Amino acid sequence: MNVARTDFPLLAAQPSLVYLDSAATAQKPRAVLDAIRDYYETTNANPHRGAYRLSGAATEAYHGARRDIARFLGAADADALIFTRGTTEALNLLATAWGHAHVHRGDRVVVTRLEHHANFVPWQQLARAVGAEFRICEMTHDGQVDLDQLRLLVTANTRVVAFGHVSNALGTINDVTDIVKIAHTAGAMAFCDGAQGAPHLRVDFDALGVDAYAFSGHKMLGPMGIGGVVARRSLLEATPPYQYGGDMIEYVFDGDTTFNVLPHKFEAGTPNVEGAVGLAAAVRYLDGLGMDAVRAHEVSLTRYALQQLATIDGLHVQGPATAEARSGVVSFTLGDIHPHDLSTMLDVDGVCVRAGHHCAQPLMRALRVNATVRASFYVYNTPADVDALVASLRKAKVRFGAHAG
Ligand code: ALA
Repeated sequence: MNVARTDFPLLAAQPSLVYLDSAATAQKPRAVLDAIRDYYETTNANPHRGAYRLSGAATEAYHGARRDIARFLGAADADALIFTRGTTEALNLLATAWGHAHVHRGDRVVVTRLEHHANFVPWQQLARAVGAEFRICEMTHDGQVDLDQLRLLVTANTRVVAFGHVSNALGTINDVTDIVKIAHTAGAMAFCDGAQGAPHLRVDFDALGVDAYAFSGHKMLGPMGIGGVVARRSLLEATPPYQYGGDMIEYVFDGDTTFNVLPHKFEAGTPNVEGAVGLAAAVRYLDGLGMDAVRAHEVSLTRYALQQLATIDGLHVQGPATAEARSGVVSFTLGDIHPHDLSTMLDVDGVCVRAGHHCAQPLMRALRVNATVRASFYVYNTPADVDALVASLRKAKVRFGAHAG
């Protein structure tokens, strides 16, 4: 795949920067920045609220973006795509609005050991609030969801299985089809955190069989502050509103209110049109590259990274052994150097990685580490970026001496 660094103004302006933190947030192509500017220069008005043509154009820009993003995610029913600030808000919407209506005392809620806090804490807190049982499915030694244990955990009183498409901390790609089958066989909902899936893998919502799939724009080349959840229409229709306010109502009487149809019912207040328009430009850019090519590029870079990192004594990679079993994420420790110190040393060489618990403390505890260093790849990364990471790690190893293992 040939992605010009010049497509990305930040990377073009900083040629020596080695950006390996796309799992945290991706850089933005010029096409996205241009779409946002163009929206404000030609179309800006409050959608749904004006009878004048400019407001109509803003409304069309907003819903046109929704249709483009739904198509990208393989969802035929675009009105069952609800925009939120991102995956975190989407998962909170599910746990709060759907959860409080459908999960009761004595029911069971199942998550996996691999979850980001955003797909762990909302379910844990829902279970605490309603008196449901909160169960965690453990992982295998190589960082995969233990499907045998999941089969045992998902019992007839299980209302929901919440799981990530791809682990943000280890890069593990979960077997969505198997997990959905286990959930549905027991009559439970299958809710998928797609924050690390949608940017890297072809998502076909209608074929995956999940009941809801949450995503974030900023990890898939779009702006921050936009994302959403695409869900089965009947699930959203059986879910009460999450927030109240303008646009989500049908009629407001003194004593009660009726609510608008989808998607408006879940989108109270002035929407983030700029975000939707920017994200639509991002998915068009990804479509232009082709998601199969994006995946092939990441597998090749990840395979190279795993090979090169294996040549550094004392470096321990966490998670699946092969590049095929993970997205473009490699989490590791080097001897007993604290990941924050290591990341600070890498930064001296212009290498940007994330260090810490990656918002996955329950996972870190299971791995018996406090933190890891995480390098993550995307469309603009090259083998030279991997070489720069490895060279910088070798320098750090010399600096830290005995601590480097
Ligand atoms: N969820 C983001 C990450 O994994 C911030 O880094």
